[in-house]
Amino acid sequence: AQMIALVPAAGSGSRFGAPSPKQYLQLNGRPLMWHALATLAAVPAIDKVAVVISPQDEWFDDFDWRLPKLEVHRVGGASRAQSVANGLAALAPGEDDWVLVHDAARCCLSVAAVERLIAALAGHPVGGLLALPVPDTVKRADAEGHVAATVPRNGLWLAQTPQMFRAGLLARALGEGSVDDITDEASAVERQGLKPLLVEGDAQNFKVTYPRDLALAKAILAARGE
Ligand code: C5P
Repeated sequence: AQMIALVPAAGSGSRFGAPSPKQYLQLNGRPLMWHALATLAAVPAIDKVAVVISPQDEWFDDFDWRLPKLEVHRVGGASRAQSVANGLAALAPGEDDWVLVHDAARCCLSVAAVERLIAALAGHPVGGLLALPVPDTVKRADAEGHVAATVPRNGLWLAQTPQMFRAGLLARALGEGSVDDITDEASAVERQGLKPLLVEGDAQNFKVTYPRDLALAKAILAARGE
């Protein structure tokens, strides 16, 4: 089976508040999302790295990406799920091929974490995702900001990416009903009654969401020589 990395990068980065989307911010001399694309391309088992950008994207062509295996698809949609679904339609993978969907903003992904995910899912019929057990005590708030309940953290995980699924199954999961409310691919697969496997990710694989996240990302990448 082919193994395709698919990176949705058609978001506007509204929470970040920069003029260009966060995936294009310069991080150690490269666009932020270059780092994740380079890591995915460096995984020998991955055949292709497909990035999905907006048809209105004004930034991609300003950079010399210089990465093996990279192809760009200008088919981004109104939601993350739509961008991924459109990317899958453009790629037209085989039913049992693997697709690894990775957030453009998780720039500190490591080759080791991707290889751990791939190894854990060998022969798996559905797929799974990198995730981390919740380390803190979790509170549910009421409307006034008081604690309504303490949610037992035992068995709770924080979803990361890549999220790796059989291509046919993922395309069907994203094509059925309304998926614009989902924030990861696993949710769509779960709605089909299937159970993705949780594979331990790592804390460095966080998503750059706010400007305060940049200093940590820079330091992690610099320590790797990126
Ligand atoms: O907004 P959030 O950080 O959850 O976005 C996750 C990923 O989905 C980002 O890589 C973003 O660029 C991508 N995205 C997309 N198309 C959209 C919205 C988000 O490709 N319409």
